[in-house]
Amino acid sequence: MHIIMETTLLRWLRLTAVVAAILVVPPELAKAQPQINLLNYGCSQYNASNVRDFFNNLNATFADLRTQLSSGGGRRFATAQQARSSDPVYAMVQCRNYMTEADCLACYAAAVSRIRNCSAANGARVIYDGCFLRYESNSFYNQTTLPGNVQICGNRTASQPAAFNTEGLALLRDLQVATPRVNRYFVATRRAISNGGNLTIYGVAQCAETISQSGCQDCLTVAYGNVQGCLPDGDGRAIDAACFIRYSDAPFFADNQTIDITPFLGGGGGKGNSSNRNAIIGGVVGGGGLILILVALFLWYYFSRIPKASRRGNILGATELQGPNICSYKDLKTATNNFSEENKLGEGGFGDVYKATLKTGYIVAVKKLDISYSGAKADFESEVSLLSNVHHRNLVRLLGCSSKRSELLLVYEYMANGSLDRFLYGEKRGVLSWKQRFDIIFGTARGLAYLHEQYHVCIIHRDIKPGNILLDDDFQAKIADFGLARLLPENQSHVSTKFAGTLGYTAPEYAVHGHLSEKVDTYSFGIVILEIISGRRGNDVNAESDTEYLLEEAWKLYENGDHQKLADETLDPNEYTPEELKKMVEIALICTQSPASSRPTMSEILVMLLSDHSMEQKGPTRSSFSYRNTFVNQTYTSASTGSSTSKATASFTQFTGR
Ligand SMILES: *[C@@H]1O[C@H](CO)[C@@H](O)[C@H](O)[C@H]1NC(C)=O
Ligand SMILES: *[C@@H]1O[C@H](CO)[C@@H](O)[C@H](O)[C@H]1NC(C)=O
Ligand SMILES: *[C@@H]1O[C@H](CO)[C@@H](O)[C@H](O)[C@H]1NC(C)=O
Ligand SMILES: *[C@@H]1O[C@H](CO)[C@@H](O)[C@H](O)[C@H]1NC(C)=O
Ligand SMILES: *[C@@H]1O[C@H](CO)[C@@H](O)[C@H](O)[C@H]1NC(C)=O
Ligand SMILES: *[C@@H]1O[C@H](CO)[C@@H](O)[C@H](O)[C@H]1NC(C)=O
Ligand SMILES: *[C@@H]1O[C@H](CO)[C@@H](O)[C@H](O)[C@H]1NC(C)=O
Repeated sequence: MHIIMETTLLRWLRLTAVVAAILVVPPELAKAQPQINLLNYGCSQYNASNVRDFFNNLNATFADLRTQLSSGGGRRFATAQQARSSDPVYAMVQCRNYMTEADCLACYAAAVSRIRNCSAANGARVIYDGCFLRYESNSFYNQTTLPGNVQICGNRTASQPAAFNTEGLALLRDLQVATPRVNRYFVATRRAISNGGNLTIYGVAQCAETISQSGCQDCLTVAYGNVQGCLPDGDGRAIDAACFIRYSDAPFFADNQTIDITPFLGGGGGKGNSSNRNAIIGGVVGGGGLILILVALFLWYYFSRIPKASRRGNILGATELQGPNICSYKDLKTATNNFSEENKLGEGGFGDVYKATLKTGYIVAVKKLDISYSGAKADFESEVSLLSNVHHRNLVRLLGCSSKRSELLLVYEYMANGSLDRFLYGEKRGVLSWKQRFDIIFGTARGLAYLHEQYHVCIIHRDIKPGNILLDDDFQAKIADFGLARLLPENQSHVSTKFAGTLGYTAPEYAVHGHLSEKVDTYSFGIVILEIISGRRGNDVNAESDTEYLLEEAWKLYENGDHQKLADETLDPNEYTPEELKKMVEIALICTQSPASSRPTMSEILVMLLSDHSMEQKGPTRSSFSYRNTFVNQTYTSASTGSSTSKATASFTQFTGR
């Protein structure tokens, strides 16, 4: 039953995430507002068995919650239950603590009336900016984080994106650290962006009051991972079973609601709770004596030996949301129908990918790595752990791995729309509008900027191409296969195009000399832009014209002012302006300049993509190290002279869903 409820929740979250993303409206000042901007809403698919009993219980619980919220004592959190019947009801309500009592009650009333729409469903939840309400048929008060925890980002970028991003990350990290240590688990704070003019970032974090301090920490760790992916958007939120984080560049709570969080940021724990903990330890030592200490030590030993993976359930069966989930090889084999051909989604440089339906009904993609265990880096699991902590909306999430046998399996979220190449020159050609193409380019840039500059380890992808850019239901780009080159032994990672880099997308200095920097990805990204606007393959050698390579042709056309000829003929010319097209071509060409140092960083590219101006003054400059003259010749030269640069057959990594 527990698992059923969890997958149900997951389904609500997935179903409503799209709706919610559309419904998010720019925040307004908090004063006298119930803040009923809907973030999430869903009903269980199971109905109560005795409807009459159920409604009696539900009504009594809701009335109880209302009484508690209107007690005048400043309460913004309450639980109530009617447990003695065939259809028990457990309910929880929480308003953001910055809400006045009247606003809180108004938000609650709105939540009740919406949740009534679930009729006799035995569980439901509604989450607004201002409050949330949830009921279930069993106690969920100590739940912390559930699979399907969701990130809801705004649709506009903050002014001063770079400064906002830096300051935003710091603020969110502080919220994550401080909130579990603050009384009633609520923090509202704001911070001026240095050199951001009069730009300020406002942030709030909150946990359900029934969970433990460490539960609050766990929940906020996941929520932080989700919400920081929204930066540098002007606003973002993350919601989960027991916590909520929100930030915005516009105020959404009154000034006098903020607290000074510096006392709660210290390493060992903040004021309130560290003294609590000391008191408990002191009590044990003073009053209990040796026996108590021995018992405590035994318990600690006993519990620390229970594998972490068995403590909390999630979509993969039984594991944690932080760090990789170690899945059972047997389960994955069953879920992929014994890695059958019908389940195969594609094959690529690192191995074949299969669609897998887990016992819970959840669909994932399983990648069977070609790398043998002995050839893989010794620290395979720590590498996978590093990668599975990468949470960003433009990166395909790594959910788990299995390395028990000689075969290594990676489990990823499943993307129904498959990879971008199908939409550019495959069976779905002509489907994408200009706006969608722009969004895909922007999303890919944002994902790369995160990997290069924002994650605590710089991750260079090395194989950016349309086959590795997947599209979700909403045609948002998600980069796949990032970090896989890290799993290879150092000396193997660049020499083989099979593993890292595909002809036509690989920067010349990397293909030829093995010089690796994040600018290698910048180069490939430039080629991908050209493919996205032209609908042609970057490495298509068999084009009818004499100009066989897309990049070469783009330079020629651009220099002659004919770049509009690059536009995909399936595009409606009314969807974009000549300036927009020119800007895209220029950005693509700037990305492919040599030397690598003349290419912009991904965050600079984000700024260029967002700016309205074409780059008249400092347009791209074609360098002597050109694609045609140097890269192609040298690649083949070095291949024929027996160096280890392999014969560069274009192998398209596919990681697609059908
Ligand atoms: C952003 O969302 C708001 C509210 O839904 C909408 O009015 C606005 O048009 C959106 N802006 C963009 C650029 O999509
Ligand atoms: C639950 O009840 C609603 C309305 O009363 C009904 O439409 C729905 O089919 C029921 N669902 C199940 C699974 O019985
Ligand atoms: C519960 O409350 C709803 C809404 O106020 C009402 O329509 C319904 O009749 C009540 N049901 C019971 C069993 O009290
Ligand atoms: C309430 O349910 C009805 C159908 O039962 C649906 O048409 C309507 O959109 C729902 N309202 C909300 C606010 O979800
Ligand atoms: C949560 O509460 C339920 C029911 O009260 C209990 O069975 C379960 O052990 C609790 N879980 C944790 C992690 O405290
Ligand atoms: C400060 O804010 C005001 C109003 O919000 C705005 O008009 C002005 O341009 C801002 N100044 C700077 C330096 O950003
Ligand atoms: C905060 O300010 C509002 C008026 O802006 C006032 O009504 C309220 O009492 C103040 N709250 C606190 C805690 O000082």
